[in-house]
Amino acid sequence: AQRRRIALTVNGRQENVEITDGELLVDVLRRRLRLRGTHAGCYNGDCGACTVRVGETIAKSCLLLAASVDGDAITTLEGFSGTEGLSELQQVLWERDAFQCGFCVAGHVFALDDMLARIPEPAEADVREALIGNLCRCTGYVNLVGAVLEVADRRRKRE
Ligand code: FES
Repeated sequence: AQRRRIALTVNGRQENVEITDGELLVDVLRRRLRLRGTHAGCYNGDCGACTVRVGETIAKSCLLLAASVDGDAITTLEGFSGTEGLSELQQVLWERDAFQCGFCVAGHVFALDDMLARIPEPAEADVREALIGNLCRCTGYVNLVGAVLEVADRRRKRE
């Protein structure tokens, strides 16, 4: 296969990576950059386990050719909260046992964070809608929803 070099900023670090033309971003992150917080579940856009942020937009990295994000800034789960330890959202998800087996964490964390940025005072239906496209085979949605509503509540009380 044809090879090429791309430049990415991943979690704030410059990375020059040699890839093959058809290589998916999820595989570049996991295999070449060894960032295993991005999981590969379905390779089909269904499960959300491979979710990352490309620039400011969340995206399923199994649906993106790595070559198509040449020059872009990527945030993976490892870089989600910068150097601050767990973000408040991650902390509350943890406290409420919302991670369960953990396979789908990246999708949940990015999708829920994205939703909270758009809808600071979500209703339960907003949270459930944000989780469409993120499959949890442990079916732990009740704790996920409760955690997000708690984060929104904590933020409201601080204002
Ligand atoms: Fe990308 Fe499932 S691996 S959505």
